[in-house]
Amino acid sequence: MNNNPIGIFDSGVGGLSVYQAVRKHLPKESCVYFADSAYAPYGKLPREELHKRCQHIADYFIERNVKAMVIACNTATALMADWLRAEYDLPIIALEPAIKPAASLTRSGHIGVFATENTLHSERYQRLVAQYARDTSIHQVACHGFVEQVEKGELDSPKTLALIKQYLQPLLEYKVDTLVLGCTHYPFLASSIKKVAGAASLKLLDTAEPVSLQLTRVLAKHDLFNEIALQNDQFVTSASPSEAQTIFTKLLNRPVKVQQG
Ligand code: DGL
Repeated sequence: MNNNPIGIFDSGVGGLSVYQAVRKHLPKESCVYFADSAYAPYGKLPREELHKRCQHIADYFIERNVKAMVIACNTATALMADWLRAEYDLPIIALEPAIKPAASLTRSGHIGVFATENTLHSERYQRLVAQYARDTSIHQVACHGFVEQVEKGELDSPKTLALIKQYLQPLLEYKVDTLVLGCTHYPFLASSIKKVAGAASLKLLDTAEPVSLQLTRVLAKHDLFNEIALQNDQFVTSASPSEAQTIFTKLLNRPVKVQQG
């Protein structure tokens, strides 16, 4: 038993899609959510800079005695998960694009992957594709601009819909029927993606649910569940807390207070 919080971080507000799933599966736990929005998008950060940010956030969590850490960011996982696991002595749960389930679900044999450039170029991602999707046609797109739109809370503005159309249209022409949302910001665009897809049948896959189930298993294995229900979540941003508060409230659909981190 351990009543300390779980640390969850992302380059910004995207990891809130993972936080929501954690909240659903682990209602007795408390979370500290760190949005590194001053440095988003991670997809464009040089590796050294990303390393510094991950170190800063992990140290922040350690000072707050978190009992486990969730890397709610595909890009940080792809480039920094191995280093974080080697450096920090606590359970670390990471996520990766849902290539494996997509390869088994597709009927057309064509899957799409929306992710950041850094994720798509990472060795970790290439290994995943080689391991699970050898016999599937993969159409991958680095969706420049999506992270910025979600960070601004523009989930269905004309600019966001135009970007989605630009990235999605070619995939639909290839008869892609399963689309992997390989960045935790993208689930917040799911209804706009569906809207742009129109009548085309398109299954969207993200990894928020599997990650929270994995977190549940890890807490059980290490005997780290809260003894009593202690839901006392904290939200932290490296950018402006007042601006972040508006976006957090919109994405979570409830008012939350955001602190400076
Ligand atoms: N949410 C992050 C991810 O899952 C976004 C990365 C970025 O900031 O570029 O990859």
